[in-house]
Amino acid sequence: MKKLIKYLLFTIVGLVIIAAIAGFFGWRWVNSTFLAFEKDFKEVVEFETITVDGEEFLDRNANGELDVYEDHRATLDDRIANVLDLMTIEEKIHLLKGSGMASGVGRVPAGEGIPGAVGTIVPTPRLGLPTVYLSDGPAGLRILPTREGSDETFYCTAFPIATVLASTWNTDLVEEVGQSMGNEAKEYGIDVILGPGANLHRHPLCGRNFEYYSEDPLVTGKMGAAMVRGIEGQGVGTSVKHFLANNQETNRTNNDVRISERALREMYLKGFEIIVNEANPSTIMSSYNKINGVQVAEDRRILTDILRGEWGYEGMVMSDWFGGKDAVAMVNAGNDLLEPGTKRQWDALTEGFENGTLDEQNINTSVERILKFIFQTAKMNGGEITNAPDLEKHAAVTRQSATEGMILLKNENNVLPLKGSPKVALIGANSFQFIAGGTGSGDVNEAYSVSLQEGLANAGIPMSEEATSVFEEAVAANPEAFDAPEGITAMFNPYKAPQLKYSSKDYAQFAETSDVAILTIGRNAGEGGDRVIKDDFTLTEGELAMLNNTCESFHAQNKPVIVVLNVGGVVETASWKNIPDAILLAWQGGQEGGNSVADILIGKVSPSGKLTMTFPVAIEDHWSNKNFPLDGITMKMTDMLFQGETPEEEWVANVDYTVYEEDIYVGYRHFDKANIEVSYPFGYGLSYTSFQYLNPTVELKNDTIYADVIVQNIGSYDGKEVVQLYSSFESEDRPTQELRAFAKTETLPAGGEQIISFAIPVSDLKVWDENEGQWTLPKGEHHIHIAASSRDHKFSQSISL
Ligand code: BGC
Repeated sequence: MKKLIKYLLFTIVGLVIIAAIAGFFGWRWVNSTFLAFEKDFKEVVEFETITVDGEEFLDRNANGELDVYEDHRATLDDRIANVLDLMTIEEKIHLLKGSGMASGVGRVPAGEGIPGAVGTIVPTPRLGLPTVYLSDGPAGLRILPTREGSDETFYCTAFPIATVLASTWNTDLVEEVGQSMGNEAKEYGIDVILGPGANLHRHPLCGRNFEYYSEDPLVTGKMGAAMVRGIEGQGVGTSVKHFLANNQETNRTNNDVRISERALREMYLKGFEIIVNEANPSTIMSSYNKINGVQVAEDRRILTDILRGEWGYEGMVMSDWFGGKDAVAMVNAGNDLLEPGTKRQWDALTEGFENGTLDEQNINTSVERILKFIFQTAKMNGGEITNAPDLEKHAAVTRQSATEGMILLKNENNVLPLKGSPKVALIGANSFQFIAGGTGSGDVNEAYSVSLQEGLANAGIPMSEEATSVFEEAVAANPEAFDAPEGITAMFNPYKAPQLKYSSKDYAQFAETSDVAILTIGRNAGEGGDRVIKDDFTLTEGELAMLNNTCESFHAQNKPVIVVLNVGGVVETASWKNIPDAILLAWQGGQEGGNSVADILIGKVSPSGKLTMTFPVAIEDHWSNKNFPLDGITMKMTDMLFQGETPEEEWVANVDYTVYEEDIYVGYRHFDKANIEVSYPFGYGLSYTSFQYLNPTVELKNDTIYADVIVQNIGSYDGKEVVQLYSSFESEDRPTQELRAFAKTETLPAGGEQIISFAIPVSDLKVWDENEGQWTLPKGEHHIHIAASSRDHKFSQSISL
């Protein structure tokens, strides 16, 4: 017996020692591969100055002389040429990859760096070149809100998610949001915001659709360009992502997109092309996936031939985080910067140079692009970090922009806006736990987030205490269940607020003692996982029961029920939309979401958002549904770092590869062509007021299509209208119609009017000819439609091309 105990003890101690040794070496490996491998490359922050002709210059390389690259009077090209001359090959290779994840996970010495900045361009100390900071993302800047050794806070504004911004159809407004985001980055010393996202909503269940704008490439391009102009106008760079065709999260680093050149050109490249042409972003982020068998980050045809060769892009391309498999192939393809960078990549690049597989010319080209960016940062040009952005001002921007992107889907008997100060019964946990934005890198560390309950209270709307207490009691009984995870934890642990339990007595009492019910349905999704149909796209049984019971009891008292959809993407509406009186698609409006919804509900603002994607009757109606992962596999942390590939013979459709069988027939292009009924069509949205379209004209002159229409507000509320212009060309092989332009009116007072004018170059109607391998203009009759939505044409005229 004693022997046995001794033996057991020995075994346990042995195992503990082995585990400790493995842990020690494991951690050392992780640390030296992903976190701390920069050795002597430490940023120099103090410089002597040199005075020449009465002007002061920083002596960055401490040689006592004014080098051309130190002289801000010299041209950018001359300064870069000088640095390239001075750099050793080791320094050049070093610059091609970031410094790892230490900054991203906040492992920086107190008082140094920007904790939470998810990536860097590394410094070149010998030449006094600085560290450049990159951080997410599309809904606002993401850095850590607190720092070791400091009482200060570093909160950022959670702006409305991209889908909300797109739903405004207001590019000026999006630009303004971009300015605020860019300003925040500038004040906090971040040089690049990793956004906007310009992938298409190919399928409604892509987990990251909330970061993207639309199922339509024109909307995507115009919104993305506005955002880039806004941010870059502040002297901060953008990284337009994820280039290209990254339309699902499932197995995102290995998934092979099998797609025709036509679909690539007309749908997936198009948005990026518009952004490059109209806003010239300083950087672009290559995507994780493969396209037709080639890893995008290693695809020279896409990153160099098309992007640079055909479009003339001169900026820098960086990888997505840990994206790409072969560092040498990446740089050779034109993926200039490897983010966040690993020791392995550094070694591989050095080895590639030494064995000749990494072309020196390619190293120089990429380094030149990176240097060009560095030299244009605020940091190189005396910009100051205040760490004090005007968060109050930005909160006002987010509140207003979110309001403009909310979409009124239904408003029977004009129950909205609420008249007077009715007592509201707030139903559903999400009314109290309102969702500000999606999860993952598109999340923001904001100081606060306004729930619908708070928004209504701020607007002076009385609320049923009985209804509120159902929520409060549920939280008191099980606080952990309502503890929504934040940040990175939220990414790997999808959270859904628990279903509240109401008795029939509760419903009856709410209906008796309140004037109106507002029921919130919440959905959240994010990076690393795609959504699923059951209980996510569709309502859960509990939600349906809640909706039915609320409507039954309130309608019995002749009182209305309003559904607020606090969602990041499309949900099923067809089966239940006839039950409530009004439906407001509030999306996820950022940190002021509850106030924005209240502004709409009380009629302070008339809704003017319209859908930038279709709400289908059934998910199966999307052609892309035949080829989309529907199992909702959520990514694990390790999947990011270790992207092992499955042997080809074991590949599973929609996981290892996805066939884009629908080709260009994404969203309304498919629904219209196949004549499929939808729940709410692309471009749809109601207002409290109504508009009349007068005196439309369409004219072809000098290879440009000119279209004019007067929009008149014939209702009794002030409001804005979104006007859309579609073109159609009858052909078996073409969509029924395609969006060619859009515009939004100013706020028109009741009775007010505005002329909306479009000028569309005929070349915008070109289509990709697979046989010729080029853009061609279909010859013949084209129909131009001036419309209020894709299914509400106000006027059509044909032109002959
Ligand atoms: C995401 C990018 C993001 C990056 C840095 C990646 O996982 O795909 O969109 O910018 O992380 O956070």
